[in-house]
Amino acid sequence: MLDINNLSKSFGGVMAVDDVTFEVASGTIHSVIGPNGAGKTTLFNLITGVYTPTCGNVLFSGKDITGMRPDQLAGLGMSRTFQNLRVCMNMSACENVMLGAHLRLNHGILAGMANLPALARRDAECRDEAHGFMQFAGVGQYVDAHASQMPFGALKRLEIARALATKPTILLLDEPAAGLNHTETGEISELIKKIAGSGLTVVLVEHDMKMVMNISDFVTVLNYGTRLASGTVAEVRQNPEVISAYLGTSVQ
Ligand SMILES: Nc1ncnc2c1ncn2[C@@H]1O[C@H](COP(=O)(O)OP(=O)(O)O)[C@@H](O)[C@H]1O
Ligand SMILES: [Mg+2]
Repeated sequence: MLDINNLSKSFGGVMAVDDVTFEVASGTIHSVIGPNGAGKTTLFNLITGVYTPTCGNVLFSGKDITGMRPDQLAGLGMSRTFQNLRVCMNMSACENVMLGAHLRLNHGILAGMANLPALARRDAECRDEAHGFMQFAGVGQYVDAHASQMPFGALKRLEIARALATKPTILLLDEPAAGLNHTETGEISELIKKIAGSGLTVVLVEHDMKMVMNISDFVTVLNYGTRLASGTVAEVRQNPEVISAYLGTSVQ
C-alpha cells in the first residue's frame, strides 16, 4: 500500500531522515520505532505531505504521491493524527470530528473551519456520521461536550475519530499512547486493532514498546534517521543491532 523509497530529509546540516526504504503491506499494522530524534515524526511528515523530501519518493497504492499536499492525500484516502494534540479547543467534540468529514467532502480544512457553523446547521447527517465515528473510537458519550471539557485520554481518541471521519484507507498515528496511563494504553491498543480489523492499514509511531510488540504485524526501526531494521515483530526483536540500540531492554 505504501512504497517508501530512499526517502531523505535534511534540515540545514541535520539528516532527519536518511535514505529510508520500506514497504507497508495493505491491511497490516506497521509500526515505526526508534529513540527520540530518530526521525519518526519527520518520516510521517514526508509521507503525509507536510514536508517535501530532499530526495526519494513515496508511492501510495502504486501512485507517486511525493510532494502532494495533505488535503490532496486526504482525498486519496490517507489520514493521520499528530504527536501533539491538534484538537480545536474552541469547538465542540462533535464539530472537531465533523472537520474530518468536511475535509473529505470539500478538500479544504480552512474553508471547513470558516463555514463550520453553517455546515452544522445544514447538515444533520454529517453530525450523525461524526457521532458514529466518536462511538467507534470510544468517545460517544462526549457528543454534546465541548472539546475543552474533555480529559486528555479522550482527546487522543477524538483525534482518531476525526482522522477516521475522512474515511481513509490508510491511517498514520503519531504516538497515540503518549501521555496515557496503562489502562488507557490498553484501550488505545484495542481501538487500533479494531481499526485494522475494519480493513484499514495502520502505520503507527509509538514509544510504548510493549504495545508495539503486541499489536504490530511489521516493525521498522529508525536510528539517527536511518533504517536500522524492518521485518516482523519476531525478526526485529532478535536483531542484534536493534537490541544494542535499545540497550537490550526495551524490546523484550
Ligand atoms: N522542522 C525541523 N527543523 C529542524 N530540525 C528538525 C525539524 N523537525 C525535526 N528536526 C530534527 O530532525 C531530527 C528528527 O526529529 P523527529 O522526526 O521529530 O524525531 P522523532 O519523531 O523520531 O523523535 C531531530 O534531530 C530533530 O531535531
Ligand atoms: Mg516524534
